[in-house]
Amino acid sequence: MERTEAMQFFKEIFNVEAEDLFTAAGRINVIGEHVDYCGGKVFPAALNLRCNVYGKKTGRKVIRMAFRGIDGVVEIETDKLGSYKDLKIGNYQAGVAYFLQKKGVEIVGCDLFYDCTVPFGSGLSSSAAIEVATAVALSEYAGVKYDKVDLALLSQKAENEYAGVNCGIMDQFASAMGKKDHAVLLDCATLEYEYVPLKLGEYCLVVANCNKPHNLVESKYNVRRQEVETALKLIQSVLPVKHLAEVSPKQFAEVKYLLSGVVAKRAEHVVMECDRVKRAVEALKAGDLVELGSLLNESHYSLSTLYEVTGKELDTLSALARKESECLGSRMIGAGFGGCTISIVKKSAVDGFIRRVGKAYNDTIGYKASFYETSIEDGITVERL
Ligand code: GLA
Repeated sequence: MERTEAMQFFKEIFNVEAEDLFTAAGRINVIGEHVDYCGGKVFPAALNLRCNVYGKKTGRKVIRMAFRGIDGVVEIETDKLGSYKDLKIGNYQAGVAYFLQKKGVEIVGCDLFYDCTVPFGSGLSSSAAIEVATAVALSEYAGVKYDKVDLALLSQKAENEYAGVNCGIMDQFASAMGKKDHAVLLDCATLEYEYVPLKLGEYCLVVANCNKPHNLVESKYNVRRQEVETALKLIQSVLPVKHLAEVSPKQFAEVKYLLSGVVAKRAEHVVMECDRVKRAVEALKAGDLVELGSLLNESHYSLSTLYEVTGKELDTLSALARKESECLGSRMIGAGFGGCTISIVKKSAVDGFIRRVGKAYNDTIGYKASFYETSIEDGITVERL
């Protein structure tokens, strides 16, 4: 939606002009999947697909929210912020407002129009983008100074404790802290980070949605977290580690006998994926895209067979991509159970890639995949209109 159109909507709905635009990004993750909540390193990048929030401060005791493509206005009262957990739409926003208020930030009433271009349920972090953009809007309207990392942490807390998804910090961090044309190498144990140029030369990343919707609240996401926590406890009986990500592949081979069944498989994924992140960053820095591509493939295979979060749709989509001669590697990103893949594809071959993979996917699965034109952008933006 164009900006002028969004502003017209705003005026029609709220009868006043929007004055500000706050945005936060959706994200991809180059590699490092399902390791953020194990203290591992992840390697996400912020996208041009974003949550755009048009706003006007009203100073009343209510936040009114409208959404592109959805009729009606959702109202949340600023002195009842704890009571909106069951909202189907607006609970992420209420959660953010609730925790900001608990931190002592005055929540000032405002009108907000959400034009979110991150497809929902796509594994591109629409929820983090909504949370972070809302956190920025409310902090700006409260007139307080804020730190972007703090807003990411507060947004994660809202998702954990208000929306009930026990997610790690990767998505909110990338949404807030992403940098144009860079991926963020984030150590989720310490929150230390480094920006690495996402230089792919004659290649680019193609983002494809398998269009099987996922919902983390209903998915096995929280179950996976419990499984790796069980693994950690068992390993801690012989190794002095705080996080599973600290266990090296060599150490894991020595302690694996302590684990069995799915707990062993989940832990093996985490340990090996953390090792792949290290190698992938080295490969990218050295310009070795072939190596990067094969690490993406290994990551997918591990998420499919050890972590078991892919499913037929994601497996098909990435396998079809991998069959293309100009594709160096492909894998699912985000939580899985549906959502998106990324593939490293030669720029000159992208059109044919999309056509062939798209057709074969439709033939196999029975419905279409979507392919997005993406670029890597900054995380948060704030603009006075
Ligand atoms: C979701 C969560 C993240 C992360 C990924 C898997 O996107 O929100 O915290 O755990 O899944 O890597």
